[in-house]
Amino acid sequence: MIKYPIRNHPNDSPVESLSKTYQLSMLKDKHGRVHDYLRISLTDVCNFRCLYCMPEENIKFMVPSKLMQADEIDRIAQEFVKLGVRKIRLTGGEPLIRNDAEKIITSLSKYPVNLTLTTNGTRINEVIPTLVAAGVKSINLSLDTLKAEKFFQITRRNLFAKVWDNIQLLLENGFHVKVNVVVMRGFNDYEILDFVEWTKNQPVHVRFIEFMPFDGNQWNNEKVFTYKEILEVVDAKYSTLRLKDEINGTAKKYKVYGHEGTFAVISTMSAPFCSNCNRMRLTADGKMKNCLFSKSEIDILGALRKGEDIIPLIRQCVIEKEVALGGQFNSDFEHLDAGKIKNRSMINIGG
Ligand code: 5AD
Ligand code: SF4
Repeated sequence: MIKYPIRNHPNDSPVESLSKTYQLSMLKDKHGRVHDYLRISLTDVCNFRCLYCMPEENIKFMVPSKLMQADEIDRIAQEFVKLGVRKIRLTGGEPLIRNDAEKIITSLSKYPVNLTLTTNGTRINEVIPTLVAAGVKSINLSLDTLKAEKFFQITRRNLFAKVWDNIQLLLENGFHVKVNVVVMRGFNDYEILDFVEWTKNQPVHVRFIEFMPFDGNQWNNEKVFTYKEILEVVDAKYSTLRLKDEINGTAKKYKVYGHEGTFAVISTMSAPFCSNCNRMRLTADGKMKNCLFSKSEIDILGALRKGEDIIPLIRQCVIEKEVALGGQFNSDFEHLDAGKIKNRSMINIGG
């Protein structure tokens, strides 16, 4: 296995907000929440076809000319950084599908932000030197099963071994690896204990995510395997320790005594964590969403291309944020009619 040296980078030190330099006030919504975390989708294309993420048919990919170009991403990100953004996550689709992904990672690494990535793990081996040079320390990876056949059923691709090997490569190279597992009742819930067992000898951080409704993903409330149920399964076998959660974190973190890694639950459906949300999103076509479930979007790229000042638009978008879940539903998901939610598909939003 190739090992790349980890070098020190400006991102190692506690980040100082550029908003101070520019004397701009930070982004606050009407509920008083400060927003300092931006998720940028680089593309709506993916080399997988995950059932819970993509509609099964009529997938219309964005026209390339409508996508933010590398220099536009940089310019938009810079405005967000001036407004106090301290963390940027690149998402997709699969962000590493873009052939200028490394160029984008390198260009964003000049900002004083914690730069990170969510990926399906198929191409990450090709970009490790770039990630190291850009000071990226932590990677979120999707893996919903530890069985190759099931992996094919979920993703429609025979690439379990590739993803597994790449996780090992990331660990060997000292990355903090978080593994996202979308738990769907009757589909992969019986693998919860296998994932927790994996944390015994490897420093992986497994995050069980409650299945969320998006356009075309066949969601229904019975498929949601809840936070409470996940804990019941784990507690029946292991003694667990509740860990301290990150400020603004979405994950409720735990550890099994003696295990090297940790596990966590992202309980969007049964116990939403909107009250301390600090997240904003840019879709690959440059539309800003103030919530994963927001109905409305603001065309940041369009304004940038017309030469307009995008800062007032960004502020307006944040101010208008609903108190929880895009104002579209609440934690009573048992009675939720997913057909009534107005949103894009997950692949179209950017995870
Ligand atoms: N429900 C919960 N999580 C989802 N993800 C994608 N679609 C869904 C869904 N319907 C997660 C995947 C991926 C991340 C970007 O979003 O785990 O890792
Ligand atoms: Fe691709 Fe990730 Fe969506 Fe799966 S969840 S189809 S890997 S973008």
